[in-house]
Amino acid sequence: MLFCWAGVYVRAASAVGIATPVAYKLRRGAPGVVLARGMNFAVGGSGVLDTGYFQRNLSAQIDLFQAHLRGCSPTGGGVALVVVSGNDYAAVVEKDNDTSAAMAYIPTVMRGLREQLRRLRDEVGMRKVVVTNLHPMGCTPFFTRKLNYSRCDPVANAGSDKHNAALRSVLAALDPDNRTFLLLDLHTPFTDFIDDDDHHPSSSNNASARSSKTKTKTRFPMQQQRRLRPCCESFSVDGYCGQQDDAGKRLYTLCDEPEQHMYWDDVHPTQAAWAAVADTFRAAIHDFLST
Ligand SMILES: *[C@@H]1O[C@H](CO)[C@@H](O)[C@H](O)[C@H]1NC(C)=O
Ligand SMILES: *[C@@H]1O[C@H](CO)[C@@H](O)[C@H](O)[C@H]1NC(C)=O
Ligand SMILES: *[C@@H]1O[C@H](CO)[C@@H](O)[C@H](O)[C@H]1NC(C)=O
Ligand SMILES: *[C@@H]1O[C@H](CO)[C@@H](O)[C@H](O)[C@H]1NC(C)=O
Ligand SMILES: *[C@@H]1O[C@H](CO)[C@@H](O)[C@H](O)[C@H]1NC(C)=O
Repeated sequence: MLFCWAGVYVRAASAVGIATPVAYKLRRGAPGVVLARGMNFAVGGSGVLDTGYFQRNLSAQIDLFQAHLRGCSPTGGGVALVVVSGNDYAAVVEKDNDTSAAMAYIPTVMRGLREQLRRLRDEVGMRKVVVTNLHPMGCTPFFTRKLNYSRCDPVANAGSDKHNAALRSVLAALDPDNRTFLLLDLHTPFTDFIDDDDHHPSSSNNASARSSKTKTKTRFPMQQQRRLRPCCESFSVDGYCGQQDDAGKRLYTLCDEPEQHMYWDDVHPTQAAWAAVADTFRAAIHDFLST
């Protein structure tokens, strides 16, 4: 997914509090002041490659961005945020019911991502591109439900680790001096918030690793179960949040305190989780954009 603040000559001061950019779909008729915030080309369910959800892939999103820029190239150099959250892998898991097939897909996704990142810099002319890494996928309720929400799925988490290691290599090769690209580490804060002192659900944050770093107490006040259990939970494993039967009766339960949950549904974090995670990298984005 591609979010762009092209042509918003993001001043260091505003980097921390950028208003939500207008969605590409709503661009017509948007007032100039809103358009000046940049544009959001992201499409739900999309991936670097075609996911089979019939959504615009990353390359098609950048095509639209490029077409939109024609005639008004970002003279100050634009800023783009590229978020890859695992839809490419989810599509494979859904199709083959096999996490290892998704692992095998990592190099293909990386080749596609590398090409699109290169293109954003070399062809579209972005001055700064922020790229997120993958959160611990095995801790999403999609995986933890099978484990009674007691721990994360180590195989899926190993997949996130592998994707993230590959992404580091891609960026190191594309941009050895870290001039254009910032790797925004979502994985560490998600893991830190999910993990706690009594349970060690995460494969990538074991006890000795934890004790070797200064213990930053989790700012996410919830019990272990709520970290791994969604606020909105379908009755059936094959169901989904928001599902209704023919009579319009809800086929899901909703929690009372979404802000106490890390995940909203089987794959999406809550607003509260995102706010807590974003807090951890505000300074890094600020520093990166002011250089
Ligand atoms: C991305 O989407 C475009 C337009 O639908 C398609 O032509 C292209 O093959 C897709 N690319 C990948 C890598 O899936
Ligand atoms: C998916 O695979 C698991 C074991 O790997 C199996 O328990 C489950 O029933 C399978 N689900 C479907 C829908 O085939
Ligand atoms: C989850 O709980 C059910 C019912 O208590 C139990 O039968 C099952 O073995 C548990 N599964 C795991 C992976 O802990
Ligand atoms: C670039 O950033 C990575 C972390 O994303 C870091 O490991 C590496 O040392 C940095 N390289 C330079 C030249 O600063
Ligand atoms: C735990 O973390 C330590 C320190 O990072 C590492 O050396 C060790 O291999 C890890 N152990 C496991 C089982 O992941």
